[in-house]
Amino acid sequence: VKAAREHNIPKDLNKVLENKVMETVSGLYRVKVSVLEMTCSGDADSEGIVSKSVSSHSDLIPGVYEGGLKIWECTFDLMHYFSEAEIQFTNKTVLDLGCGAGLLGIVALKGKAKRVHFQDYNSTVIDEITLPNVVANCTDRGSSGEDKTARKPPAKRPKKAEGSPDVLTKCRFFSGGWSEVSQLLLSSNKPFAKYDIILTSETIYNPDYYSALHDTLAQLLDKNGRVYLASKVHYFGVGGGIYLFEKFIEERNVFRTSVVKTIDQGLQRCIMEIAFKDSS
Ligand SMILES: C[S@@+](CC[C@H](N)C(=O)[O-])C[C@H]1O[C@@H](n2cnc3c(N)ncnc32)[C@H](O)[C@@H]1O
Repeated sequence: VKAAREHNIPKDLNKVLENKVMETVSGLYRVKVSVLEMTCSGDADSEGIVSKSVSSHSDLIPGVYEGGLKIWECTFDLMHYFSEAEIQFTNKTVLDLGCGAGLLGIVALKGKAKRVHFQDYNSTVIDEITLPNVVANCTDRGSSGEDKTARKPPAKRPKKAEGSPDVLTKCRFFSGGWSEVSQLLLSSNKPFAKYDIILTSETIYNPDYYSALHDTLAQLLDKNGRVYLASKVHYFGVGGGIYLFEKFIEERNVFRTSVVKTIDQGLQRCIMEIAFKDSS
């Protein structure tokens, strides 16, 4: 059980990007993890997950580190799917569940979502990766660095919306286990509206977590909302995968699912849409 907490956004946004080296991927900024691995220690990594993942050469340490430091390939599948399927985020309330780098939520923010919340199991991931990535991509702090401006000709710079720190007022950041985070959201005295869209990539690798994941989706999704889940068809060595999760959902009898896309290169991957059985 991993306790949940909300991460406050520092007033001084320069602090968020302090000591961070950024690189670009699919047109978005991201914290360069190889640098983080060399620099993030002590207080900045109070969970010790950066050193543990490096020393064990492992992208997953169940219950300790759940993979949020790196960007998993299904994130890019889901980003492609958003443009192909013309998924609209305008005015939507969105959750990036198991966000890691948070690229999915960042795309939603850039797509003019009304609110975007980010959740990761690990607090270090939220502080050292997710939050810096949101600041770098969605506020003008991110585009003020010299090398970055060079890459973006001024004429092509977006005029407003994503250029202001206001974007951050649309965001909230949470770390902790899924059940614990949904408890926190539902019991907090801050107003909470259920999500129109929940985005989640590479979060069904471990069948031990299916119950918590299922119940979190059931508790947090709006009655007519949609979940877009991107996953490998099978996770060798961990045991989870799309068929097992599909079967789990069927047995619970709360949601309907449909596989809306399969990707056949390398390990087979797919995108599943999930909605309440009685939704419109
Ligand atoms: C493999 S990573 C994928 C990260 C990111 N979505 C991506 O595609 O790059 C799995 C993510 O799910 C989250 N996660 C996994 N199990 C969890 C659990 N039991 N409770 C809360 N979060 C969990 C972790 O925080 C982690 O970021």
